[in-house]
Amino acid sequence: MNNEGVGAASVSAQSSQRMSAPQGRSALNYIFAADQLRGRDIIGIEQLTKEELLLVLQVALDLKQNKFDGTQTQFSKGQTLAMLFEKPSLRTRVTFEAGMTQLGGNAIYLEGQLGLRESVPDVAKNLDRWLDGIMARTFDHDTVLQLAANANIPVINGLSDREHPCQAFADFLTLQESKGKLDGLKLAFIGDGNNVVNSLMLFAAKIGMHFSIACPPGYEPVKDLWELTLEIAKGTGSKIVLTHDPVEAVKDADAVYTDTWVSMGQESETEKRVKDFNGFQVNAELMAKAKQDAIAMHCLPAHRGYEITDDILDGKQSVVFDQAENRLHAQKAVIALTL
Ligand code: CP
Ligand code: NVA
Repeated sequence: MNNEGVGAASVSAQSSQRMSAPQGRSALNYIFAADQLRGRDIIGIEQLTKEELLLVLQVALDLKQNKFDGTQTQFSKGQTLAMLFEKPSLRTRVTFEAGMTQLGGNAIYLEGQLGLRESVPDVAKNLDRWLDGIMARTFDHDTVLQLAANANIPVINGLSDREHPCQAFADFLTLQESKGKLDGLKLAFIGDGNNVVNSLMLFAAKIGMHFSIACPPGYEPVKDLWELTLEIAKGTGSKIVLTHDPVEAVKDADAVYTDTWVSMGQESETEKRVKDFNGFQVNAELMAKAKQDAIAMHCLPAHRGYEITDDILDGKQSVVFDQAENRLHAQKAVIALTL
């Protein structure tokens, strides 16, 4: 599906199928009529507007708060999502599958490198004939783009080397719940300028939140997305900072976030990375330099004793398992709004 505008004929056709809300009062009925993202791909935070990001958060929160509202099972009734995984997963796989079930639909899990047995476009063209959506976790971001270019059904990025948008939705929902607001908050990231960071910094800039990253030299976020983030921030008033000093990054931070130093696919660099990231651990000493009520965040899986210590991950400041829980609600929002 192409992301250029929601007025495309195929989008309208999909939307009209989804417009018949069940009779009766439900706080969730508005979701049937929400057409901003209907039929759209979720490639990255890069392609979404502030209003669209906030809509996903609102829907996620409503789905969470109305967990037992029977309306939920109508959103994906009769729909099927393909879940393509080139890399391992716990959270993304389980929450997308459970999410589809809770919304009344089904998910099919497919594992393996795409493009080997048949081309990525051919995979997309097949799935497009049978199903209602594709979620893909890939090594190359280009694979997600190829799927999207060759399928009319929505394609959702479940993590590529460039972005992890579904993680960012869960993280900002968690921030909002923990702090009661997003406005004026500062999120500090300590570690590798990777896919997770790319989504977080774009999200922060688009909604006008402040963001800092401390990484070792050579591990900065990808240049084009960093420049885009700075450009967006000029318009929204976000203060965006890149430093090589973790203490500077966490100063006045409301949330301190970290992720693995060795992302999936980088395993051969483990020894070098562990050396390079020395001093970039989120531990009690660093947390003490953030705001007193700062929360500790991690997308998981965690490498305890490396990027984060046990006392922080399991401690009072941690919202790590709230983030994990919110993957379910955020993903359900994405599914309910796009498929
Ligand atoms: N955070 C996250 O995406 O977890 P999984 O790799 O287990 O899906
Ligand atoms: N940056 C990590 C995130 C895992 C959810 C990776 O890509 O492996």
